[in-house]
Amino acid sequence: MRKSVFVTGATNGTGFAIAERFAREGYDVFIGSRNEENSISSAKKIADKYGVFAKGYKTEIFNEENVKSIFSDIKEMGYLLDVLVLNAANLGIGQESLTVDIEEFMNVYNTNVGWNFMMAREACKHMMEKKKGSIVFITSNSALRVTGNRCAYCSSKSAILAMSKSFAYDWGKYGVRSNCVLPGMIKTERWENNVNNAKYCLANYTPIEDIAEFTDIANAAWYFGSDESRNTTGAELVVDGGMLAGLTPNIDRELWK
Ligand SMILES: NC(=O)c1ccc[n+]([C@@H]2O[C@H](COP(=O)([O-])OP(=O)(O)OC[C@H]3O[C@@H](n4cnc5c(N)ncnc54)[C@H](OP(=O)(O)O)[C@@H]3O)[C@@H](O)[C@H]2O)c1
Repeated sequence: MRKSVFVTGATNGTGFAIAERFAREGYDVFIGSRNEENSISSAKKIADKYGVFAKGYKTEIFNEENVKSIFSDIKEMGYLLDVLVLNAANLGIGQESLTVDIEEFMNVYNTNVGWNFMMAREACKHMMEKKKGSIVFITSNSALRVTGNRCAYCSSKSAILAMSKSFAYDWGKYGVRSNCVLPGMIKTERWENNVNNAKYCLANYTPIEDIAEFTDIANAAWYFGSDESRNTTGAELVVDGGMLAGLTPNIDRELWK
């Protein structure tokens, strides 16, 4: 049976780089997106570039029937999934806690916690059949230290840490591992256009004076997804240029005086 990976939110950016990382290693790739057309065209790009089989799926957030139908389709094609990478996220930006609409707040949880749970559980059923598999969550360093007006996002990313540990604990006996990658800032288009000009003060944020490329996150996902980490489960890998290591901005001591 050929090795396979499913990556959510993988039509561009971080998710696409993760899909490419596995394709480069010869994995067949399933790409999830809320936009079916984009999922199909991104899968074609991967198939053409790496000579693997790739297929796009329309993912309907928090719809368990949709989740089940995706995993049955994959099985009907002769696969039992090896790796699931849960990359898609509702970013819940600008949700001021005193005023945020509770439905908007819960939408963040529905995606980042509820839907990820549904995806992981269906993937686990595949993996149990061959007593082997790996679930990789792309969470965030804001699961550990928060940013402003993002209570739902930060707390949902924190919830993912415990969810991953629960899967590691409960599903280890089935040969299923579960681990988390915690990115700090990534060089996305959003970051390029950041209104706070974060790109001009990298040294303030990260001791190594740089933030992650898509490939840095993809390499961490590959590590957890592959047998390179065969004895590791319930673990976390922070990829943030050392941002969490410091308590204060990393500015010149002269400026503190
Ligand atoms: N960017 C950063 O600086 C940063 C920092 C720390 C952690 N992270 C985490 O790293 C992962 C990738 O980050 P990214 O910035 O590359 O992500 P992104 O581009 O903002 O989102 C990834 C994908 O998630 C899907 N998505 C977006 N909003 C959604 C929503 N409301 N509900 C469901 N799906 C949604 C989209 O895919 P479709 O439209 O194709 O469905 C999108 O392409 C995320 O889990 C993020 O939380 C990112």
